[in-house]
Amino acid sequence: MTKRVAILISGGGSNMVSLVDSMTGDHPACPCLVLSNNADAGGLAKAQERGVSTVVVDHRPYGEDRVSYEKQLIDALEAEQPDIICLAGFMRVLTAHFVNHWQGRMLNIHPSLLPKYRGLNTHARALEAGDSEAGCTVHEVTPALDDGPILGQARVPVLAGDTADLLAKRVLVQEHLLYPAVLQHFAAGDKRQINLT
Ligand code: GRF
Repeated sequence: MTKRVAILISGGGSNMVSLVDSMTGDHPACPCLVLSNNADAGGLAKAQERGVSTVVVDHRPYGEDRVSYEKQLIDALEAEQPDIICLAGFMRVLTAHFVNHWQGRMLNIHPSLLPKYRGLNTHARALEAGDSEAGCTVHEVTPALDDGPILGQARVPVLAGDTADLLAKRVLVQEHLLYPAVLQHFAAGDKRQINLT
């Protein structure tokens, strides 16, 4: 059975596009929904152009009430009966309740070589630390931030003269290769780690 994939975004959605565009032919998954917390997310139009349903669940009316917000998120997602949830630049912290609801079915891409640099500003932190390589990680989501079993990593060299922006662009190219590769394996039940260099 083809697995149904819901993708959560907040912004431009370039990773979402790479995932949607990868799910063709005999791929074991298909996109069923793109959900954003932000009605202005550029990725929404890109999903619609690709014939994928979209929905906005704005977090702002809920203020600090994450429980009520996540109830709406769960309802909007469950309406599409997804088998797999892909976080792709979804800029909301998720509670353990939400994460546990999708246990073993939710993936995230993070722009660092985890376990290094959980959280934000990953590229600046890699440069400040003098790292010789950087990269990105796709992992299963568990309640701890940017934690959970690693399913794949891609590495890029840090070059002389790099800025956080230059490094982010170089890593993003790899994100667009890594996330579809991991999703294809994961949807087929293969959780072996993928390493791209
Ligand atoms: C990516 O760098 C991703 O790793 C991070 O947020 C960014 C999203 O970019 N979690 P996009 O919206 O997929 O273009």
